[in-house]
Amino acid sequence: MQKKVLISGSTGQLGSELKSISSDYNDFEFIYKNRAELDLSDCKKIQEVFSNNKFDYFINTAAFTAVDKAETEKESCFDINAHSLKTIVKYCNPECRIIHISSDYVYNINPGRPLQEDDITKPLGIYAQSKLQGEESLLKERENSIILRTSWVYSEFGHNFVKTMLRLGESKDKLSIVSDQIGTPSYAREIAKCIMVIIQKIEENEDTHDYGGIYNFSHKGSTNWADFAREIFRLNKINCEVENTTTAAYNAPAHRPLWSVMSMLKVEKTFGIKIKDWKDCLQDCLSRLS
Ligand SMILES: NC(=O)c1ccc[n+]([C@@H]2O[C@H](COP(=O)([O-])OP(=O)(O)OC[C@H]3O[C@@H](n4cnc5c(N)ncnc54)[C@H](OP(=O)(O)O)[C@@H]3O)[C@@H](O)[C@H]2O)c1
Repeated sequence: MQKKVLISGSTGQLGSELKSISSDYNDFEFIYKNRAELDLSDCKKIQEVFSNNKFDYFINTAAFTAVDKAETEKESCFDINAHSLKTIVKYCNPECRIIHISSDYVYNINPGRPLQEDDITKPLGIYAQSKLQGEESLLKERENSIILRTSWVYSEFGHNFVKTMLRLGESKDKLSIVSDQIGTPSYAREIAKCIMVIIQKIEENEDTHDYGGIYNFSHKGSTNWADFAREIFRLNKINCEVENTTTAAYNAPAHRPLWSVMSMLKVEKTFGIKIKDWKDCLQDCLSRLS
């Protein structure tokens, strides 16, 4: 019998990528819910979806992701990214494995090496703090949940840096872009594939392994936003000059971590996932976009 996989945030970047790859996974029945169908700020809606159905997996891609807007919409951001997890766990059938997506923003430290899952967290800003609280609520109530911390997400779907650069690069000769934040861009299609590898591994080893906990997931290598833009323009042969600027000069409402490079050893070792180079993944996304 097919295992039932519920996916929230089905119109977002990751939700859309999961939809796009789902036909490769015939052992699973995917049920997609958009914001109206499973609104994480609405406890009654959460109760309705989870009390009336049983799932084998719940992939929670839905989130309040507008980092700057979160600074003025604290309550809504915490309701969606943190408080909802308590309600979900309350009504979700206990056999259901929850796979939740979190963010590099929870770390906000620079230990002088790639960030590891057991490093301390010092989130600054409403979005970052709400994401950490969401993680903590979930793991406290349901230890066998899987939390994937990812960074700098882009996709052929939705709104993201890659698509913004493609648009701006065609209409402007020069752009000023922040160059003092170091991290790794993550292709949502690869995050989606990683989630499916994790689910398959759980299916294979259900009786002997628990797997619950936090895992980083991104790609090999690192860059900064200005160089990321340069690589997009180089690959798509767009003639647009990029000038470096600083986080301080950009002066966004919400704090951004300056170091977001994560170690992927744990996810590699535990699930046998091969981590690809970020530039190869970018090339793949750009090919699909064209
Ligand atoms: N984007 C990044 O750079 C980044 C980096 C690190 C971690 N993450 C995490 O990765 C996950 C996936 O992010 P993404 O990039 O796919 O985000 P996204 O494209 O912004 O999609 C978020 C989805 O959540 C939905 N949503 C918003 N409020 C909701 C609510 N109250 N109830 C239910 N759904 C709601 C949105 O619905 P609408 O389409 O109707 O707006 C959208 O479908 C999130 O947990 C995010 O925090 C993202």
